[in-house]
Amino acid sequence: MKFSSYAGRRVLITGHTGFKGSWLALWLSRMGARVSGFALEADTEPSLYVQARLDERIESMIGDIRDPDLVAEAVAGFAPEIVFHLAAQPLVRRGYAEPLRTFGTNVMGTANLLEAVRRTGSVKAVVVVTSDKCYREDTSSFGYRETDPLGGHDPYAASKAAAELATNAWRASFGNSPGAALIATARAGNVIGGGDWACDRLIPDLWRAARSKRPALIRNPSAVRPWQHVLESLSGYLLLGERLLGGHAEAADAWNFGPALADMESVEQLCKLMCPRLGVDWRYDGSPQPREAAMLRLDSSKAMMRLGWRPRFTLEEAIELTGDWYARFDAGENPRELCIERIARFEQCRNR
Ligand SMILES: NC(=O)c1ccc[n+]([C@@H]2O[C@H](COP(=O)([O-])OP(=O)(O)OC[C@H]3O[C@@H](n4cnc5c(N)ncnc54)[C@H](O)[C@@H]3O)[C@@H](O)[C@H]2O)c1
Repeated sequence: MKFSSYAGRRVLITGHTGFKGSWLALWLSRMGARVSGFALEADTEPSLYVQARLDERIESMIGDIRDPDLVAEAVAGFAPEIVFHLAAQPLVRRGYAEPLRTFGTNVMGTANLLEAVRRTGSVKAVVVVTSDKCYREDTSSFGYRETDPLGGHDPYAASKAAAELATNAWRASFGNSPGAALIATARAGNVIGGGDWACDRLIPDLWRAARSKRPALIRNPSAVRPWQHVLESLSGYLLLGERLLGGHAEAADAWNFGPALADMESVEQLCKLMCPRLGVDWRYDGSPQPREAAMLRLDSSKAMMRLGWRPRFTLEEAIELTGDWYARFDAGENPRELCIERIARFEQCRNR
C-alpha cells in the first residue's frame, strides 16, 4: 500500500510526540511530506519521539491543545493543507484519575483545533482521531458500526464520544462555507507495534515487567479488544486523508478502522502469545480496579467497501513484529530504522 498524495504537502500532526504520532511523522516524512507537529513534550521514558530523533526531522511546536490562542497560532503558522488530530489524554485509567483534564484535552482540545482550522484558509482536510471506545456499550454487539449510538461509560470513552459530537457540530455548522475543510473522524482499535511506553497499556506493561524481571500483573485477562498493528490504523487515517484532500465530500464522515473479526482477542490470549517473545510471565491481578468494558469489537466493513481499506497483518504477524521490535531495541538497534523497516514491509504487503 503506497500513498501518492502526500509528497510535498504541508501536514500538521497534533500529538506528534506520542506513540502513533511518532510513527505517523516517520511515515509521512518518508513519503516526502513537509511535516509539522503540535503537542506536549514526550512524557514517557523512553519515548519513540526522542529515540527516533524526530525533532531533527520535523517542525515541532510544544504547547497545550487546551489553549485556544496557542492552537490558533500553531495552525496559522504552519499553514498545513491537512491536519491529523491525535493529541489527546488517551488512557482509560488516567481518565478516572483526571476526568477534568481528560475532557479539557479531548473535547475542548478538539474544539480548539477545529476552530483554528476554520480560521486558516490553507487547511483542506482534517482527520480527527477518536476511539473504538466512543460507542455506547452493548455487550450483545458483534462489532460496533459507525451508525451505532455514541456513549462512553468512563471519562475517557465519553470524552471521545463528545469529540465526535463536537466534530459533527463543526462540520454541520460550518462545513458548507466556501473553502471549508472536509473533516472526518477515525475510530481505530487497540494498537501495538513497538515504541509505545505509555502507562497502563498491555504491551508496555509487559516490557517493563520483563525489564524488572517480575511477572506482569494483568487486570482484565478476559477483556476482548480489537488489537491491531499501529500501521493498520495509520493506513486508515492516511487513506481517509487522501480522500478528503481529493475533495471527496462523502469521506467527511465517521470511519472505523479495526482488525479482522478473528483478530479481536482476549487480553489473556495476547499475553500468551506475547509473553514468551518478551521473556516475561504474567499473573492475574485481582485487586479492585476501575471498570473497563468487557468486550469491544469494531465492524470496519464501511471502510473496506467505500475506501478500499483492509487490514494487512494478521494478529500473529502484528505480535511477532511487536515482540521483535522491542527485542531489537533492547539489543541496541536504532528505533527509527526498526520503524522504517516495518513501514517498508507494510507498504509491500498485499491485502489479506
Ligand atoms: N493507542 C491506542 O491503542 C489507541 C486506541 C484508540 C484511539 N487512540 C487515540 O489515538 C491518539 C494517539 O494515541 P497514542 O497512543 O499515540 O497516545 P500517546 O499518549 O502516545 O500520545 C498522545 C499525544 O497527545 C499529546 N497530548 C496529550 N495531552 C496534550 C495536551 N493537553 N496538549 C497537547 N498535546 C497533548 C501528547 O503530548 C502526545 O503527543 C489519541 O487520540 C488516542 O485517544 C489510541
